[in-house]
Amino acid sequence: MPSHSPVVAGLLPALMLVMALHSLPTASSAPAETNYDESLVGPFVLPDVLAGPDEVPASSEAAWKKTTRPHQFKLLEKYVYGRKLPPVPVAVVGEVERAEVDLGSSKGIRLQAKLRLGTAADAPTTSVLLYLPKTKKKVPVFLKLNFRGNQAETDDPGVWLPTGWVPADTRIKGIADNRVTAASRGGLQRRFPVASMLGRGYGMATAYCGDFFPDRPDGRPQSVLASLDRPVSGELPKDEPGAIGAWAWGLSRILDWLVTLPEVDRSKVIVVGHSRLGKTALWAGACDERFAMVVSNDSGCGGAALSRRNFGETLTVITERFPHWFCPMLAEYAGREIELPCDQHALLAMAAPRPLYVASAEEDRWADPRGEFLAAVAAGRAWKLYGLPGLGTEEMPPINTSIGEMIGYHVRNGTHDLLPYDWTQFADFADRTLLGKGRPAVEATPQADDHSKELLAEFQPDQSLLPAPPPADATLLIAPGIEPKFTSMAGGPINWEVEDGSLVATRTKNHANHIASSVMFEDADIHAEFMVSPLAHGNSGLYIHGHYEMQIYDSFGVENVTSQDEGSLYRFAEPLVNAARPAGEWQVYDIRFIAPKRNADGSLKSAGTLKAWLNGQLVQDGVTFTAPRSPYIPYRHGVTDYLRGVEKQLKATGKGPLFLQDHGSPTRFRNVWIRPLP
Ligand code: GCU
Repeated sequence: MPSHSPVVAGLLPALMLVMALHSLPTASSAPAETNYDESLVGPFVLPDVLAGPDEVPASSEAAWKKTTRPHQFKLLEKYVYGRKLPPVPVAVVGEVERAEVDLGSSKGIRLQAKLRLGTAADAPTTSVLLYLPKTKKKVPVFLKLNFRGNQAETDDPGVWLPTGWVPADTRIKGIADNRVTAASRGGLQRRFPVASMLGRGYGMATAYCGDFFPDRPDGRPQSVLASLDRPVSGELPKDEPGAIGAWAWGLSRILDWLVTLPEVDRSKVIVVGHSRLGKTALWAGACDERFAMVVSNDSGCGGAALSRRNFGETLTVITERFPHWFCPMLAEYAGREIELPCDQHALLAMAAPRPLYVASAEEDRWADPRGEFLAAVAAGRAWKLYGLPGLGTEEMPPINTSIGEMIGYHVRNGTHDLLPYDWTQFADFADRTLLGKGRPAVEATPQADDHSKELLAEFQPDQSLLPAPPPADATLLIAPGIEPKFTSMAGGPINWEVEDGSLVATRTKNHANHIASSVMFEDADIHAEFMVSPLAHGNSGLYIHGHYEMQIYDSFGVENVTSQDEGSLYRFAEPLVNAARPAGEWQVYDIRFIAPKRNADGSLKSAGTLKAWLNGQLVQDGVTFTAPRSPYIPYRHGVTDYLRGVEKQLKATGKGPLFLQDHGSPTRFRNVWIRPLP
């Protein structure tokens, strides 16, 4: 484990008091041992977010939906949030109150409803506040829970005041003895910009989180859990949900009501949350796939931030101070984060394939902005299974720059808060992803352009004679009498053995002794002759650009070939036929590869595609892709400085190398050439 930084936090007595108040969100009360030094974070390996119960990673959308997502969800239930709570019938008590409201430049409608959650006469209730723009169209709606009651979210004098307990808060007026008065109206309205969002065509809904679970360690008996027949005292089951589970359940119950309203577009309700309620929004989005988009703002530890990173708030601190938020099991992993079977990237991945937005604030180091960003990067693999782009980068963007396609991210300047800047990014992102406005964000069913299709149609290589005579304009990578034009992963000389003029994959324990061509290309014909060994299933492959792997495997005689057999574009497209020859015989691949092309603004110009022949038979015929398809790209597994440079160059120029893969089997290669296409 990484050592902790010796940061000394000279705490003021006043801040000690804040700490004692428990529920006040502040980073200033960070314990002295809190690490804020990036160089002390230390290395860690994330659990595979695509892994199913047998640890086999999902390679298709179908496998993700059927096996992996349910498995990862169960891990999150068991180790972090507790079991998902069952729905109950929701009914409006009395009438929905409707009023026209003046929003300065425009008018809107305010709805308030008291919802009964369950059928018992004494079932819990919540008061929902909803503002709608005046339009005949059904509108998308942002829904968030709030910290201090609906009245604090707006200065609209018509908003009902909560009558129950609220946490003490000296930063806004009008809260005394854990009760609110009218003076608290609008105290947090910066977090709920009704006029501007209605102006953009969105509805805005909110309810007080304390309606579902008063936010204090002893809040359980007053929470909705009692009405759901959950234990509220004594020793709790390890997977018993806490406040976050109850809050997320509350969001779903509000959604039950929202979807009944004729003004609301039921397919476009977006769940948003800040801080602890950001953790909650993410969990609500995971539990309830009816939420069309999920937004986390500064959710930090137990939210979007990776628990394995020793930076800012840790599981030790959060489970001590807020034992009521998570299930009891999580506390057992305090200080043992590396043993947790899941990390928070799995929570983000639960949103796939819906749009997900993660927002951080620069000075909110307690929430670990970088840990939030890295979780969003790691979660992207779930969207890739759907053929959708995630964040599109592994580099944190500059301050106040919103990035990403189906996963959006920004780090705003300033501190822990939910501000109009954040909302603008959420709405811009929703405009693009849900409403299809502006730059198209979704690249579903990508098409190759006509020119690429023509190029593929013409590709009919002669594979009848081996070794095949190279065409005059080919660049030879492995051929008799020449030094192989390959480098090691570090950019140095290769250590693969040469035997009878062929190159034999030299195995290493971590299966990362791949070799990379020193010749770079964009679109190309690739010819490779190879012989698999029966050892380790003959596993190897041709990684085109390091992103697309034409599989080499001992698949001879296999009846139903899959996307892991020879002839497949590994884990993406299965071969049209099984053309594999037995181990010990020479085989040949001819591949015409056309890379995806992008415009200067990053939008897609045309999808990538390829056609591949194996041993005289067509195995791939025009599969399309817009983003890297191999789950094991060499820029991540076994990456070196040299490869970082190669990846950068690939991004900038579209040109990259051909890798020959070490996968623990001594595969032989001879007569390898490429013909870059003009
Ligand atoms: C505290 C807590 C955080 C939480 C925040 C908030 O700072 O440690 O985990 O996100 O409160 O809810 O504002």
